[in-house]
Amino acid sequence: MRTIIEPFKIKSVEPIRLLDRPTRERILAEAEYNMFRIAAADVTIDLLTDSGTSAMSAAQWAGVMEGDESYAGSRSFFRLERTIRDIFGYRHVIPTHQGRACERLLFEVVGGPGKIIPGNTHFDTTRANIEHTQAVALDLPDPKSHETSLEAPFKGDMDVARLERVISEHGAAKIPLVLVTVTNNAAGGQPVSMQNMKDVRALCQKHGIPVYIDAARFAENAYFIKLREPGYADVSARDIAAEMFSYADGAMMSAKKDALVNIGGFLALDDSAVADKLRSLLILTEGFTTYGGLAGRDLEAMAQGLEEVLDEDYLRYRIVSTAYLGDRLHAAGVPVVRPIGGHAVFLDAKRFLAHVPPQQFPGQALCCELYLHAGIRSVEIGTLMFGHTDESGHEVCADLELVRLAIPRRVYTQSHIDYVIEATLEVFQNRERIGGYALVDNPPVLRHFVARLKPVAR
Ligand code: F0G
Repeated sequence: MRTIIEPFKIKSVEPIRLLDRPTRERILAEAEYNMFRIAAADVTIDLLTDSGTSAMSAAQWAGVMEGDESYAGSRSFFRLERTIRDIFGYRHVIPTHQGRACERLLFEVVGGPGKIIPGNTHFDTTRANIEHTQAVALDLPDPKSHETSLEAPFKGDMDVARLERVISEHGAAKIPLVLVTVTNNAAGGQPVSMQNMKDVRALCQKHGIPVYIDAARFAENAYFIKLREPGYADVSARDIAAEMFSYADGAMMSAKKDALVNIGGFLALDDSAVADKLRSLLILTEGFTTYGGLAGRDLEAMAQGLEEVLDEDYLRYRIVSTAYLGDRLHAAGVPVVRPIGGHAVFLDAKRFLAHVPPQQFPGQALCCELYLHAGIRSVEIGTLMFGHTDESGHEVCADLELVRLAIPRRVYTQSHIDYVIEATLEVFQNRERIGGYALVDNPPVLRHFVARLKPVAR
């Protein structure tokens, strides 16, 4: 196969800092071993997140200049509304400053004590916003998602049989909606199949339960369907996306991912009564209904980004280049979640650092080592993020201990990725020397963002 090249030229560059190891040791200690506490200027390759880190295109920057900054009825809002109606197919479009603002608004409207929100796997902010209303966030991932080495095409699916049991046990009245996150970020960035979306839809329709999609990475999910699901090879990513959204009543999107912008989000839905309530709350805390806490230029860049992300040369490059990193690590024996997802490679820290017990945060230990060794910043998705301390002070560990190497969109070239491969292989060869970590403090909500840690003496 020929090399699949980045389908863009670079017009504007930012320098990258190369630090020596003693400097990184000092910086990591000062950051108290939390990746979120490291200054970006002290990072060589930043794979913390693919969120808000995209490089915008010349057309998006042109849109920034075109942005209409009117308080009400901005031309840029109407362009965004047209674009979203066209791609998503929903009537009401409500801009927000980012994904978690959608979550806060939606769950304030439909959540509350006694309510249950099932999903394939809720992302951390989604779960936190559901729980903030005292509703229960229930993860029902397909059992395949727990087998990190299993090669299966759609490990992001929802477990429909369990969803059916949950509905019959608790009753549809307690379930205001079912949320399908595409791709399934917290479960290894794995895609959800069209068949699964159809099955979820059919079951929910039978019980009168609305279905919503968390569309942060909808275009990547659509492209996986094109590549992997029988019958879709000749369907465009845009038409696949339209079919996905046809099996739901609405969507919320962090535009910081597949809308290729640095800030933004939106809700899109058909239910006018829900939309009215969302808009009232939006005006209260975010901004008027035609800007939702964003500038007109942000709306313009989002509209343009939503068009660009469905370009199939882009999507092919995106999926192939992420797999390039993951497949090379896998071939060299590094345990990674298989197959490789759309936006990130997930290292399986449970197997990578089998000698570090889950209570000592093996994922975090691996993040620290990648930074110390090569200035690579990654993020733990394991017990630090999803575990908690129970009443008796014991650490309740997460099912999976993963380290996510998230790839910003259109930012790094193949040689950057080759550097990441070389560094990760070196860390893997010396893995026996890596020790665990302990919490110095234990913040009650979303602790991974702010927690302080220290190395455990070995
Ligand atoms: N939903 C999913 C699936 C996400 O991955 C995220 C954010 C959100 C919602 C919240 O959106 O950040 O715009 O408020 N994920 C980022 C990440 C932070 O690194 O995966 P937001």
